[in-house]
Amino acid sequence: MKLDNNQQLEEIIHFSEELNTTQDLDLLLEKILLEARSFLNADAGSIQIKEGDELVFSHVQTDSMQRKLPPGQKLIYTTFRTRINKNSISGYAAITGEILNIMDAYKISGDSPYKFDPTNDKKSGYVTKSILTIPLKNNRNEILGVMQIINSLRTVEEGKGIDDGFEYVGSFDSRDEHLALHFASAASMILQRAQMTRDLILRMINMAELRDPKETGPHVNRVATLAIEIYERWAGRKNISPKEIDHNKDILRMSAMLHDVGKVGISDLILKKPGKLSPEEYEIMKSHTYIGAQLFKNKHSEFDEMATVVALNHHENWDGTGYPGYINLGTGLPEKTDGKGKPVPKKGEEIPIYGRIVALADVYDALSSRRVYKSAWTQDDVFNEIKILAGRKFDPELVEIFLENFDYFKSISSRYPDE
Ligand code: C2E
Ligand code: SIN
Ligand code: SIN
Ligand code: FE
Ligand code: FE
Repeated sequence: MKLDNNQQLEEIIHFSEELNTTQDLDLLLEKILLEARSFLNADAGSIQIKEGDELVFSHVQTDSMQRKLPPGQKLIYTTFRTRINKNSISGYAAITGEILNIMDAYKISGDSPYKFDPTNDKKSGYVTKSILTIPLKNNRNEILGVMQIINSLRTVEEGKGIDDGFEYVGSFDSRDEHLALHFASAASMILQRAQMTRDLILRMINMAELRDPKETGPHVNRVATLAIEIYERWAGRKNISPKEIDHNKDILRMSAMLHDVGKVGISDLILKKPGKLSPEEYEIMKSHTYIGAQLFKNKHSEFDEMATVVALNHHENWDGTGYPGYINLGTGLPEKTDGKGKPVPKKGEEIPIYGRIVALADVYDALSSRRVYKSAWTQDDVFNEIKILAGRKFDPELVEIFLENFDYFKSISSRYPDE
């Protein structure tokens, strides 16, 4: 059923307001696609994001296929990529920036520059007919991706009631194009904002690197890669869905890269000291945890949330001997104190999982690498140290996962050698 024009306008205003209250990229794109399909009464659709010279299918929705699944079950999350070229429909739109309104995918004229690729239809048994393809552009007119709306469902009215109609697949008209453009521009805004956030994060990482030369690109990449690999295995054991795992891995990678960003607040005299820190200096060094966490405390996104958690908790120990303990990020004061007024360290599962994971990845890498204050350990020594620290410094389940796959973790971290 279609809405009348006024209802549509109100819905669109309401929808735009909603977009400003939440900031998660995936959820937003999913929602925009859903709304676009509902306004245009389309059976299927997708959003494809440009990454280098490829289009990555990030969101695919199909109502008629979804209905064939048992209730509660979701379509398998499909992520696949295609090289951008003018011969494909979305490639053509991504290169030329043109909107393409195709009546029937199987009846595209032979002299058209692009062709429909029936591979996915063959695989899924779906029959694609009408396709509306809209390029997603930023405000400098650069292409960020494309949105496709597929199979316009038209109603044949037999009587007066809407229930009398039956649906058939027709084509999209110019009014549909106009509406679809509105949703495409919403999707473009979201993508631009995500890009800005990403750029900002990369700038922060560079800043931390400048400040502390041992916070090198390779090191930060090793800790991040180890962390997401540990997370993936841990989450697999906890029956977390593949879609959620993928999603969290993305955010964890960035957050893990920034685990020590709070070192920007530590004096060079301490940070670059060639020898062992005095107890006083070490106390100051410990503040890099909550200094880092405070950088993200105006939480706007899932990323801010996770980056806070990682910076704050990556030096807590499983047995409750770590730091900084329960601290209020707003005031910087202890939230829970011991007899001497010091913050009580967190222990066991009080330490958020992402903190426990980055702690293990960080120490594995610190022990394996040379530092101004220590030389690199052999991998045998690192293995034994981590084993000894299970249940003391580290979550024993994570140590089990790590040591079971030790050679694998060793090999992924060797992908990022120090220059
Ligand atoms: P980092 O160098 O990245 O080390 C991270 C963590 O790895 C350390 O946290 C510690 O848990 C572990 N780790 C690193 N090297 C060793 C080692 O030789 N033996 C053992 N058992 N564990 C090791 P921690 O101790 O809280 O230190 C946090 C940060 O403070 C370090 O990050 C480093 O930047 C700085 N730091 C710690 N100790 C010293 C020191 O003696 N001299 C200097 N210049 N900096 C230090
Ligand atoms: C480094 O010292 O190379 C990086 C510091 C860290 O990951 O804790
Ligand atoms: C410390 O200096 O007390 C920490 C030892 C280390 O991480 O090397
Ligand atoms: Fe640290
Ligand atoms: Fe570290």
